[in-house]
Amino acid sequence: MNSAREVLSNQDGPFKDLEKLVRKYAATEYRRPVADHTRNAFADAEQFIANFSAKGHAQSEGPSCAAPQPVILDSGCGTGESTQHLARRFPDYPVIGIDKSAIRLDKAGKAFDTAQSRGTEARNGDAQQNEPKNIFYVRAELIDFWRLALDKVTSGQWVIPYHALYYPNPWPKQSEAGRRFHLHPIFPTLLQLAQETELRTNWEIYAREFEQAAGIVKEIPGHTSTSLSTGAGDDNVVVKSVSCEAFEPEQPITAFERKYKNARQQLWRVLVHR
Ligand SMILES: C[S@@+](CC[C@H](N)C(=O)[O-])C[C@H]1O[C@@H](n2cnc3c(N)ncnc32)[C@H](O)[C@@H]1O
Repeated sequence: MNSAREVLSNQDGPFKDLEKLVRKYAATEYRRPVADHTRNAFADAEQFIANFSAKGHAQSEGPSCAAPQPVILDSGCGTGESTQHLARRFPDYPVIGIDKSAIRLDKAGKAFDTAQSRGTEARNGDAQQNEPKNIFYVRAELIDFWRLALDKVTSGQWVIPYHALYYPNPWPKQSEAGRRFHLHPIFPTLLQLAQETELRTNWEIYAREFEQAAGIVKEIPGHTSTSLSTGAGDDNVVVKSVSCEAFEPEQPITAFERKYKNARQQLWRVLVHR
């Protein structure tokens, strides 16, 4: 039984003003204030990562204590299936699942961890007992979380080897195109965060647009950083390669991926390396 519908859109190709928007946002600084609730959620994640690191888990190679802490992000993690998958793929790194939906985060029986509760062994339920210990879920707005995370990266405290962006809301109507992450002022920040960013989607136009937008940023020599830190340098924005392909997962790793696979929809992924 499957009920996943194909994405319906009044677009039949990439958004007409894509290049104009991407160039505009690459040349300007995004200054919307960060919401307090995301700032607080970020502080919890930061604490979890600091505790994880203090317990002697892997740090990236580099000069002793100055080495940045590797952190994996699962943005828009939904019910957390992919976060669990990533936690097993990267057992030595903290994996942060971020979503704004309390219902989705709750669904898998995962109360929002706090750094304090994570420090105690007493957690209820088999699911939680079997959960990898390197996971931390936060309820937060991605657009704010990413800017706070970029400050950690540009200050050399974190390095993000892999950032999962699996099946973000497509906002398929043309009138909503500006809400797609690659057509939003946040896009340069998003591209600067991780060494590898992987977008997955069931809408080819979203994948092609994301690829095209990342390709445009790639060609812009050292544009203005959109980090919250005023002092962030121009050399942060180095996109080395961008690729887009259709793919078929043998084993779905997210709830939406399973739905789309069962509905025999074509899936797409874009990989950005920096
Ligand atoms: C289509 S669902 C995909 C969930 C999951 N990645 C999966 O594949 O099953 C998109 C998720 O992104 C979250 N989301 C969308 N925009 C967000 C934002 N700006 N900040 C935080 N979460 C967001 C939604 O709450 C939702 O859980």
